[in-house]
Amino acid sequence: MTATTYVGKPTSRVDGRAKVTGEAKYAAEFNTPGLTYGYVLSSAIAKGKIKKIDASDALSLDGVLQIFTHENAPRPAYFDRKFKDDDSVAGSPFKPLYDAEIKFSQQPIGLVVADSFEVARYAASLVKVEYEAEQPDTNLRRKPKGHKAPKGKTGFVPPKDRGNADKAFKNAEVQFEAEYFHMPEHHNPMEMFASTVIMEEDGKLKIYDKTQGAFNSQTYVTKVFGLSKEEARVINPYIGGGFGSGLRPQYQLYLAVMAALELKRSVRVVLTRQQMFSFGHRPGTLQTVALGAAQDGTLQSIKHEALAETSRFEEYTETVVNWSGMLYHCDNVKLGYYLRNLDLYTPLDMRAPGAATGIIATETALDELSYKLNIDPLELRLINYAEENEFEGKPFSSKALRECYHQGAEKFGWARRKPQPRSTREGTKLIGWGVATGMWDAQQQKAAAKANLSIDGKLVVGSGTADIGTGTYTAMTMIAAETLGLPLEDVTFKLGDTTLPQAPLQGGSWTVSSVGTAVQEACEAVGKKLLKMAKKMKNSPLSGASFEDVEFVEGKVQLKGDYASGVSIIEAMRQGEVNFIEEETTALPNFLKQMKYARNSHSAVFVEVEVDEDLGQICVRRVVSAIAGGRVISPKTARSQILGGVVWGISMALHEESVLDHNLGRFMNHNLAEYHVAVNADIHDIEVIFVEEHDDIVNPLGAKGLGEIGIVGVAAAVGNAIYHATGKRVRDFPITLDKLL
Ligand code: MOS
Repeated sequence: MTATTYVGKPTSRVDGRAKVTGEAKYAAEFNTPGLTYGYVLSSAIAKGKIKKIDASDALSLDGVLQIFTHENAPRPAYFDRKFKDDDSVAGSPFKPLYDAEIKFSQQPIGLVVADSFEVARYAASLVKVEYEAEQPDTNLRRKPKGHKAPKGKTGFVPPKDRGNADKAFKNAEVQFEAEYFHMPEHHNPMEMFASTVIMEEDGKLKIYDKTQGAFNSQTYVTKVFGLSKEEARVINPYIGGGFGSGLRPQYQLYLAVMAALELKRSVRVVLTRQQMFSFGHRPGTLQTVALGAAQDGTLQSIKHEALAETSRFEEYTETVVNWSGMLYHCDNVKLGYYLRNLDLYTPLDMRAPGAATGIIATETALDELSYKLNIDPLELRLINYAEENEFEGKPFSSKALRECYHQGAEKFGWARRKPQPRSTREGTKLIGWGVATGMWDAQQQKAAAKANLSIDGKLVVGSGTADIGTGTYTAMTMIAAETLGLPLEDVTFKLGDTTLPQAPLQGGSWTVSSVGTAVQEACEAVGKKLLKMAKKMKNSPLSGASFEDVEFVEGKVQLKGDYASGVSIIEAMRQGEVNFIEEETTALPNFLKQMKYARNSHSAVFVEVEVDEDLGQICVRRVVSAIAGGRVISPKTARSQILGGVVWGISMALHEESVLDHNLGRFMNHNLAEYHVAVNADIHDIEVIFVEEHDDIVNPLGAKGLGEIGIVGVAAAVGNAIYHATGKRVRDFPITLDKLL
């Protein structure tokens, strides 16, 4: 690409109008004649057995079609085999309505199907359930006994020790050690989980599902119910927020498909907000960090241990501690990661899983060490800058973190920081500044795309990826328009349908790098055909040109930079006597090229808080987030991703916690009134800086992905600013005002 028309230039969302006018439809909004409605019955206990279910009153209600429980629900033939989804973890996935055993609070124990939602919901209230309850254990903080290292093959096992961290810690001039904790959190996307399963006349299923991966839901449905891919098409054109919650097929999908197959009817199942707290959360972790340093700030020892929770039936793991061995240069590193089984549902990936929580501990501890050393916290990070991934001994494919520190500090005015805590006040408000580093992976997955250019100059590109709000529609449209030199208005990008070429789950910040590369390659394949036709034209100025010599600009193919050599692509197709050109390609990561390098995105986050000295109220007044995330394809939606990450980071630091009643084993604040998220009034000035990085190793586009890096480091930076403001260190997140008083 030479002349850049769209890539790197701010473009408004191509799906923006559809979203604000309500034209965009979500899983629970697709209708069909004769649709029936399922309402999920949730367990009132967290552990034990169902002794008896009496559904007779509910069944006799007008409009109730069936009530499925473990007593009468089918057990599909494939149920007992090890079916896995693309985000499965080690263990045995939860099987809804399988037996009388209760494994977690709000476990689905029945599905009432009726001809209206209201009747189904009312009928559900009439079902009488008797339980034999046992005392659940849901308390990660109860002094750990018998925790264990994860054993699953899919687990994120920390790398082996580097040097001798225990000895180096003992011998270090300055030592610091502390324990950190953060509460579990729930994703709380705006859109409820829903599946509308339409039973077509030929018995095939058309499934509108809220998922981050249509193919993942399809695989699950076909494997569990023994259907062919043709019999189960999954569609998800719009998703009202995912954040990881849609990486695994959720139980409403199972229940809706099961009921549709049993009743031979179309069925919709929508979960309530309360039920959205029943299928996966960011796990709470208890972490200890020990740092040893020389008086000049050089890190001599890093020790980081985390105890995390998982369910009793699966082993969920995430990369919590590994970052501590990659963020800074240090010869002696020791990491540990342990799990405890609790009577909760299996945790689930949530935006930057592991990094968002592990780096809270690392980056808070480093801040604490900086005060012990009397070294500016930013300076301390620069002193210990890692030039390579020291675990793997590999260079980074690119790493402009130093520039993030410099540009972020400059914008923020960090040089004016007074080193002492409690040194700035405005009336009753204490003002503080904090900094933290963030890090995430730059991954690429196998993905396919199809491009179809028709003689009217319209280009349709498709790939079965998703757009959970990240801007996929926009970025892909831009890449396609750019590659073939077409106006944005003439390009349509389709996603969210298993009839499109296969794409991975939308997660891991890898959509632009994976699907974007596939889109570019599919469009280039069309371009190659176009060039062939253009070359065959009479007196073609391109006759001797190879694909590398040409570019596509304003509907023409021309020698690079030579406008006069341009040939209209429509004219080329006309003379080539084709009405359309269609090409499908599968883009694979270049493993040989990539494996020699560590591939990561980085960030530096600067935060200013004000804390009311008397009331403890905290306000994050300013954030500067400087991001090194490779090439930025779509600056406007990219900035929105980072803004969203920062907002969530603030929310993590100050508000979000899923509060358990350990007697009941239940998340008690299962609604948006009591589960606090940052709202407009909590959010003030946020500046995003994208630091330039050129990287042709991560993928041909040079994009590292920006969906997750924005949140990493933010909560630590907020906590560090609060300490600087107040002189009080809170190691227990979220930092609510009661902890400051
Ligand atoms: Mo993300 S937690 O990979 O949706």
